[in-house]
Order: sequence, then C-alpha cells, then structure tokens
Amino acid sequence: MSKIIVRGGNILKGEVNISAAKNSVLPIIAGCILSDDKCIIDQAPMLEDVFVISDVLRSVCAEIDVNRKDSRIIIDSTAIKDCEPAGELVRKMRGSFLLMGPMISRFGRFKLSLPGGCNIGTRPIDLHLKGFSALGAEVNVGHGYVEAYAKKLIGSKIYLDFPSVGATENIMMAAVMAEGETIIENAAAEPEIEDLAKFLNSMGANIIGAGSGTIRIIGVKSLRGTTHRPIYDRIEAGTFMIAAAITRSRIKINGVNEEHLKPVIAKLTEAGVFIKIEGDTMVVDGTGDLKPIDIKTMPYPGFPTDMQSQIAGLLSTVHGTSIITETIFENRFMHAAEMKRMGANIKIDGRSAVIEGVNKLTGAEVRATDLRAGAALILCGLAAEGETQVTDIYHVDRGYVDIEKKFQGLDADIERVNV
Ligand code: EPU
Repeated sequence: MSKIIVRGGNILKGEVNISAAKNSVLPIIAGCILSDDKCIIDQAPMLEDVFVISDVLRSVCAEIDVNRKDSRIIIDSTAIKDCEPAGELVRKMRGSFLLMGPMISRFGRFKLSLPGGCNIGTRPIDLHLKGFSALGAEVNVGHGYVEAYAKKLIGSKIYLDFPSVGATENIMMAAVMAEGETIIENAAAEPEIEDLAKFLNSMGANIIGAGSGTIRIIGVKSLRGTTHRPIYDRIEAGTFMIAAAITRSRIKINGVNEEHLKPVIAKLTEAGVFIKIEGDTMVVDGTGDLKPIDIKTMPYPGFPTDMQSQIAGLLSTVHGTSIITETIFENRFMHAAEMKRMGANIKIDGRSAVIEGVNKLTGAEVRATDLRAGAALILCGLAAEGETQVTDIYHVDRGYVDIEKKFQGLDADIERVNV
C-alpha cells in the first residue's frame, strides 16, 4: 500500500507530457480478441487497469506482452479459449465486462462474473445486455454470472435509452462480425468510442459514424491484426489544467487534443483561466483572478463526469458560490467529505454540490475514495497550506501514469511513500 504526501504552496512551472487514454486502451485491448493475428498497441499507458485487463486476457489463454520500457503491448489471441476468466481479476475492474462483446462475437458463447457496483454508483449493465439480445444472443443472468449464447449474431437496430460509453463499445465489438448491418442509435459520442472504431476499422471492420449519436456497423467476415496508437488522455490533460489553476500557476501541457477538451477549456476560460493552444500543446495560466462558475456533467460533448471531482477542488479555492450538478453517476460526490477535512465548504443536495470558495485549504490526511476523487485530493493538496496525505492511492494508480513523478517535474513538493 502506498500513499502520496504533498506539501502545498509551490507555484508549478515547466511542462508535462500526457499519456494515452486509459478509457481508449481498455476497450482496444478487449477488441484485440476479435482477430487471430497479433495486434500491437503503441505508446500504451502503463497503468494498473491495463495490467489487470491484460491478466484477465491471460486467464483465457491469450498471450500478452506488456513492455513497460517501450510502452508497447503485443496481444496474440490465437490460443484464446472460451473459458471463464478468473473471477477475482474480473471483479477487480468493471472494464473487464468489455470482453463480453468480443468474446460472444468470437465464440458464440461466454460466461463472465457480473460486475458489481462501485464507489461512484450502481452502474448497471442492462444496456449492454439489451444490445447483445438485439443481435440475437440469448442472455441469462443469475448466480452472480452473466452468460450469453448465439449460434450466429445478426445485425439489428439498437436504441440506447442512455448514451452509455461501455454499452456502445461492447455492442460495437459484438456487431463487427455479425451478419448484415447494425445501427446503434443514441450511441455515446465520446472520443474514446471514435478511437475504438478507428482501431477496429484498421483491423478491417466497417464502422461508420462513431463519435456521433448514430453508429452504423456493416458486418465483415473476419478481422486482421493491426498496430494502433491510442488518443491522448483528455482527463489526465484536464487534471493538469486544473493543477495550474488551483495553484495559480502557468504550465505547459504536451499531448492535448483541443477538440476533445472543448468543455473543460470552455468552463476554465469562463472561470478566468487563460488557455493558449498550439497544435497538441497547451499553455494554461491560472495566475489571473478566478471567478465561481456553475457546471453540469453531461455525456460528451458535455462537461465530463471524470473531471467533476477535480473542478470541485478548484472551485473550493475560488471566492463566491459555484454549483456543480452531476447527472451521470448517482454517487460521485464522495470527494466532498474528504475535501471538507481540508477546509472546503461544500454542501451536497441530491445530485448537486454547492461550493463556497474558502480563503485557504489546509493539509490533512484524506482518502482517495475513487480514481478521480484521489486525483482531486492531490490537486487540493498542491494548493493547501501544510502537508496533505492521500491514502488508498491504488485508486489513482488505476488511471494515472506516474502521477507524483509528473508533478515533481512541475516543481511540486510531492512524494510517494510505501506504508
Ligand atoms: N448505465 C446504465 N445501464 C448500462 C450502462 C450504463 O444505466 O447498461 C448508466 C450508468 O449506471 C451510469 C451512466 O449510464 O449512470 C453512464 O455509464 P457509462 O456506461 O457511460 O459508463 P462506463 O462505460 O461504465 C465509462 C468510463 C468511466 C466514465 C464513464 C462516463 C471506461 C472504462 N470507463 O464508464 O470512466 O466515467 O464512461 O463517461 O471507459 C474514470 O475513468 O474515472 C471512469 C469512471
């Protein structure tokens, strides 16, 4: 177990390089199952979630070489079997459910331990299952498992009641080799969906419209191996943008896609942060006077729920009243109680958080209750007076590459200690 200790107050300076997107690479790794040929993922982020999904695939006999030095993953699923993956690994990470679509596509059957709820909400999988059923699979849920069988998957029209990211990805992967055409309506439009479609198309799939609300998939007979470099992690970039703002500093962030960050850029600009973008590099200047803002999380291109905790930290340091409304997950304000331990003034009322900016946050021992909450507490620690200790840091390691090293490179006083 390790924790992160931050001594706040340093002005950040210098530049930081953004890694590839966790939420792109996880479905892409699952998608590699769809071909017998080798797939290579270049510049892959070396994260806990990537190691876990690789172990899940190994437990069904895929060969995976994760080269941490070169940030490259080589996946060979020639020997993959339709056996049940190790339950303890699957339960470690909800993203394991992304194997369901490709496995049904490849074997016509699959059994997987049901993902549970998690700290941020109950996170049902009904939309994934609705999609598999529409493609002709018989889906049974019981005794903690979900099982699906299909002699043949057949293209279909599927309307999602909510534009779920995971359901869109899973259905897309199940449908790429189905007979005929599949149309997903009210599909999620997140950049990670577009990246997955780009990856699958480079394997020979025929997917049109990914990144919009309607995705058309024309089934193909087989897929071949490919090499892919995932997109930059927009949430990691957004986290560093807030780091500059919360410490009232100016930093350079290398590896950003302006289009993907539009909602975060818009809201930080409204708050008074100055942002300049040139190509895939951004300068974020938080040295001006900052103003309170209201935020509502929404599916892409709305403001991302994965940035909600971090911006709550920032707004806790901005004089005046800000209101955040969380519409995606029902329990994503766990960070508020921890931030209050640092002197933040946040009141939760159902799905809204009312934040009154305070003069100073003060260092305290706080717990990372989930991945983004942990990142947000580190950000608060950078701005706080005195020392902050963030425990349960394994949540943060699931989704950030070398977070303390990247902050050290920006002159923050931060270290990881093993306890
Ligand atoms: N939902 C349903 N039924 C379903 C699926 C989802 O009701 O069958 C609901 C969920 O309960 C939730 C909402 O729909 O309230 C959104 O869930 P979605 O399926 O879009 O999320 P996800 O695929 O489980 C991905 C990311 C999350 C990110 C969300 C929303 C991955 C591996 N995870 O989760 O990332 O918050 O989309 O953008 O891509 C994170 O990185 O910290 C993280 C939690």
